[in-house]
Amino acid sequence: MKSNVPTAHNEAKLGDIAKTVLMPGDPKRAKFIADTFLENAKMFNNVRGMKGFTGTYKGRKISVMGSGMGMPSIGIYSYELFKFYGVENIVRIGSCGAYTKELNLYDVVLAKDVWSESTFAKIQSGYQQETIEPNEQLNSALIKIAESLAIDIELVKVHSSDVFYREKFTEYIQIRDEKKCQVVEMEAFALFANAKILGKKAACLLTVSDNLETKQATNFTEREKTFTKMMKIALELAE
Ligand code: HPA
Repeated sequence: MKSNVPTAHNEAKLGDIAKTVLMPGDPKRAKFIADTFLENAKMFNNVRGMKGFTGTYKGRKISVMGSGMGMPSIGIYSYELFKFYGVENIVRIGSCGAYTKELNLYDVVLAKDVWSESTFAKIQSGYQQETIEPNEQLNSALIKIAESLAIDIELVKVHSSDVFYREKFTEYIQIRDEKKCQVVEMEAFALFANAKILGKKAACLLTVSDNLETKQATNFTEREKTFTKMMKIALELAE
C-alpha cells in the first residue's frame, strides 16, 4: 500500500515528529525556538523552507514547525501533521493585532473562541458555523502552566481573517463591536477546524504585535526574537 508520507509539503518520516507540535507562522521563528530552547534539535522538514524541528525541552519531546501565513497554509500543514504523522496536539504560537486599547504590545492572549467569515471549514468539511472553539483540555493545561510560570495571559475572542490589507480598514470596528472579537490573526480557525474533523486537539496562544486602535506596532526583528513568554508557556506541553 502506498504510504502517505512523505507528503508533497513535508519530507519527514513517520516517527520524526513528536505528538505535540508548536506552530509559529514564520519558519524562522521555528528555527529560533529550536536553537534557543530545544536540546538535540533535528530538522525534519525544509520543503519550501517551511522548517520543522524535533528535540527535547527539559528532557521531554516536542516539535516546532512553521505554519506559513493564512488559513490555506496552516490548513495544509496542520492537516498533514494530524492525519499522516500521528500528531495529537498542535498549539499555534503566533502574533495578532489588537482591536481594543485595553491590550498592549507583547501581551500574551489565549483563544477562548474564534470567529471567522472564512469559507475554509465550510469547504473542508461542511462545518457551517462562524465560531469554533479550541480544545478545552489543552486550554486548561496552558492556563495552569502560565500560572505556574507567573505569566499573565488573557482569554480572548479571536477574529481569523483571510485578508491582511483591507481597503476599508475601519471595518474592524464593526467586527469588534458586533462579533466581540478582541484580536485579529489569520490561522486559528482553520487549525481548530482541522483538529475538530480529525478528532485531535488544538489551541492558540498569541502575542500582540500591533494595535489597530493606537497604531502601535513592533518591527519584524522584535517579532522574531521577543515572543519568548508565549514560547515558554507552550514548550511546557512537551512530554
Ligand atoms: N491583521 C491580521 N493578522 C495579524 C495582524 C493584523 O493586524 N497582526 C498580526 N497578525
